[in-house]
Amino acid sequence: QILILDFGSQYTQLIARRIRELNVYCEIHPYNNFPELTPNIKGVILSGSPCSVRDEDAPQVDLDKFRKIVPVLGVCYGAQLMAQLLGGDVKPSQHREYGRAHLKIDDTDSSLLAGLSASSQVWMSHGDTIVKAPHNFKVIASTESVHVAAYKVEDELTYGIQFHPEVTHSTEGKKLMENFVVNICGCKQDWTSDSFVDQSVKSLRQRLGNDKVVMALSGGVDSTVAAILVHQAIGKNLYCIFVDNGLLRKDEFEQVLHSYQDMGLNIKGVDAKDHFYGLLSDLSEPEAKRKAIGKAFIDIFDQEAHLIEDVKWLGQGTIYPDVIESVSVKGPSATIKSHHNVGGLPDFMKLKVVEPLNTLFKDEVRAVGKTLGIDPKILGRHPFPGPGLAIRILGEITPEKVAILQEVDAIFIGGLRKWDLYKDVWQAGVMLLPVKSVGVMGDERTYESVVALRAVTSVDGMTADWAHLPYDFLAEVSNDIINKVKGVNRVVYDISSKPPATIEWE
Ligand code: XMP
Repeated sequence: QILILDFGSQYTQLIARRIRELNVYCEIHPYNNFPELTPNIKGVILSGSPCSVRDEDAPQVDLDKFRKIVPVLGVCYGAQLMAQLLGGDVKPSQHREYGRAHLKIDDTDSSLLAGLSASSQVWMSHGDTIVKAPHNFKVIASTESVHVAAYKVEDELTYGIQFHPEVTHSTEGKKLMENFVVNICGCKQDWTSDSFVDQSVKSLRQRLGNDKVVMALSGGVDSTVAAILVHQAIGKNLYCIFVDNGLLRKDEFEQVLHSYQDMGLNIKGVDAKDHFYGLLSDLSEPEAKRKAIGKAFIDIFDQEAHLIEDVKWLGQGTIYPDVIESVSVKGPSATIKSHHNVGGLPDFMKLKVVEPLNTLFKDEVRAVGKTLGIDPKILGRHPFPGPGLAIRILGEITPEKVAILQEVDAIFIGGLRKWDLYKDVWQAGVMLLPVKSVGVMGDERTYESVVALRAVTSVDGMTADWAHLPYDFLAEVSNDIINKVKGVNRVVYDISSKPPATIEWE
């Protein structure tokens, strides 16, 4: 595997994804927590950083822990840090460089740059530059404004590059990563979803033995794939619980329960609508609603888990982006929303935790799901928030409002499927606003609710743009909603991007 040392760059996860795309396993570790160098670590990559190597408290690493033992590649800050630590000089650039640049490759024999075209396009994003390379550094590529765009340390397999090969705008970045990971480090490209399934099932069987595992399923991709994997390992010893919190989409509880049963899972559906509505009554503040839902879920889950005699493990569908220990090199980031399903269950349950997907990125989870034969319709589902429709009904929640929103949402999502737009959108849903407006239907004056349609494109939900859906589609859906759903007389479309807006309205 390849070890990526994270110095806090926004692109660190992208480095990992590019390496995984080469079918090579890699892990991200914080720069200040270098793990023991085991023989299966074939190379180290030092990431970029929002810091400058000239900062007094710039993040540091002891290069002797891995340099000259395994090949090393420094990217941006990583390259500057090595240059500085080994006797070179880094200074602020005369002009900051952001965006496109073209390489002039000075050493066509360099195995790092082998196969790249003569003026390969790369992506720069840096304020500092290496003004003096140490004497044993060989410059292997430059750009018009950066002399040391890539270097190799003589007699070592140590390299540095000023640009970002991990972003798609570096058009041959993947080739460069392949050169490093496969040719220089000698990694085998045998990390595939088939091999992952084989290995996981074997190791889960060994770890869990005859123990019982309980898992809460949500109908989402991650918990479903995790459950099927554990089920392949231990069969009926996996006890699944699917809670109807009264905040799911229209008919979703019944449909998802059936598909779980069809997959052979040992699943129990629990109708807990009243418990959730009870705890939510009179609450209208978003964070208070999230907390009440979190509590209601734990109440129900605890009650159900206690009915399973002698259960030892809690299975969870946690994925890699949730567990990467994020390094904060510029102060802690603010909590925008407290996602209730991150953080797991309280200690009093005293269950050991098994998280079979905690090394995978989302797209890898889908690939594993495909290998496991899970219905593509389930794997292609849009994300849906844990608190469900509760955070799409602004203000207080009542069963009547839930029923209205379920109808509107079903028309919108059904329309996206009918117009073959569902897969082009990353997430879609409808907000029921605490606002009434005047309308006219036939000869009657109406005074009813407003709904806001929201559809976004995104890669990971961290940033998003509103989806530019066709006007004809919006016209049809709006008409359908107003004609079919009693209580709604106005439809608006949300055209805010994230940031500054968020995807959900609460
Ligand atoms: P925001 O609204 O923060 O949403 O832009 C980003 C993504 O997170 C989902 N979301 C949640 N998911 N529990 C969840 O499981 C929550 O409390 C929660 N709040 C937002 C949202 O649907 C989107 O996919």
